Amino acid sequence: MAEQLQPGVGVLFNPALIEFVQAHAGALDHLAVIPDRCWSDAGPGSASRFEELPAAVAVVERAMGQRVLAMHSIGMSLCSADVFDLPYVDQLAAWRRRFGCSWVSEHLSFTRVGSGHEVNASVALPVPYDDEVLELLVPRVEEVQSLLGCPFLLENNVYYVDFPEQDMGEAEFLNRLMQRTGCGLLLDLHNVHTNAVNHGFDPHGFLRSLDLAKVVEIHVAGGQRTMGFHTDSHTGPVAEEVWALLEAVVPHTSALRGVTFEFHESSWPMLHDTGVLEQLDRARAVLRRHAAQALQTA
Ligand SMILES: [Fe+2]
Repeated sequence: MAEQLQPGVGVLFNPALIEFVQAHAGALDHLAVIPDRCWSDAGPGSASRFEELPAAVAVVERAMGQRVLAMHSIGMSLCSADVFDLPYVDQLAAWRRRFGCSWVSEHLSFTRVGSGHEVNASVALPVPYDDEVLELLVPRVEEVQSLLGCPFLLENNVYYVDFPEQDMGEAEFLNRLMQRTGCGLLLDLHNVHTNAVNHGFDPHGFLRSLDLAKVVEIHVAGGQRTMGFHTDSHTGPVAEEVWALLEAVVPHTSALRGVTFEFHESSWPMLHDTGVLEQLDRARAVLRRHAAQALQTA
């Protein structure tokens, strides 16, 4: 496996990127892959639950050994009170070993409810930042880390409504969860920007209250205004406000391994190769500038 020592840049793979990944191998230090888009899942209890999709698996196989691979899971539903899907985690762990993934990430959210007759919202729903949720998550995160055998990161979520009377704020919740479990943070700066716009807080102040030394990966993305909200739609290039947040946090992220550009495949006609390469070049320029400044002050 190709391990990078300095933080690099990469993309979250989507089907529009099949040719890009082969044509611009040198532009990518790492490739983040959503494993759930590489298999069909017949659901818990099914005899042959995970059926691999050959075309998607072939992309991961080709990337293996050429660059750092990371798995970005979307199906664990870690925060479901009545679902803790250990066979799903076992499947992730098997893929982690098979493809030599350097880290695995999941959202701090839930998608599924009902352990008997499951309902899947297919969208990462936020949880209240309460002690009860924290106590639910700590042993789960510890077990997931143990099964995966590699760094496990949780991604800060986007939320469009506030839960009333939460026990703590998002930053305190994330810091306490990371401190108690040793898990890392996948810091999605567009999610921070989205929440800041919709809820009227200072994103830089929020980031200063986070334990940035636990950040292993950063997501950068774009979004759009819809029905009075800024949405986490992953539309087009990275938002300018997100570039400013990246500049602010990189000097404080001593464990950072990669900055990942994520976009929805429907934005490919807007971006094309040149648009994606521009985002990667700009992210790399931020990393290089701060690495050079760190050397000067060392
Ligand atoms: Fe993200």
